[in-house]
Amino acid sequence: MTPIIATDAASHKPDWRLLIEPLSEHEEAAISAQVQHYPQPQAATIEALKIVQEHQGWVSDGKLKAIANRLQMSPDEVESVATFYNKIYRQPVGKTVISLCDSVSCWIMGYQGLAQSLSQELQIALGETTADGAITLLPTPCLGACDHAPVAMVGGQRAHQLTPTSLIELARQAREQSL
Ligand code: FES
Repeated sequence: MTPIIATDAASHKPDWRLLIEPLSEHEEAAISAQVQHYPQPQAATIEALKIVQEHQGWVSDGKLKAIANRLQMSPDEVESVATFYNKIYRQPVGKTVISLCDSVSCWIMGYQGLAQSLSQELQIALGETTADGAITLLPTPCLGACDHAPVAMVGGQRAHQLTPTSLIELARQAREQSL
């Protein structure tokens, strides 16, 4: 009798492990150091994502799969952590990321004017990167400094009580430093 052959579509999908972009030695060592702090390797997911982003500037699908493999997780599980944590970039970004807070306090205190002025200055919309790769402009939820609204993160620095002029000045400085 002819054996029944599995025809499940899933069986024809390539193993995701074949699509891994291997971790560099530095990434592997740094992630291993983090894993040691926890009883379960999965607890180091955010740190692992941050480590890869620190080295690559963002987290590609291949690197995300490498993290999943290293931490004994599925790529979907790592993806859900990466999506939840809005400082993990899943697409390439510019050398400086400017994240404009669009939550209530900042919205009331002038978010729209800031976004409009900076978009005009950089010639990009929210979610885009300047042609020279210097700056990416993103909206972000509350940055935890509502009493200093409107607020933005420019690179790693939080900037308070912004005006269109002061924000554009910060963006110009960031651009000069990235060239
Ligand atoms: S609402 Fe913008 S920092 Fe909280």
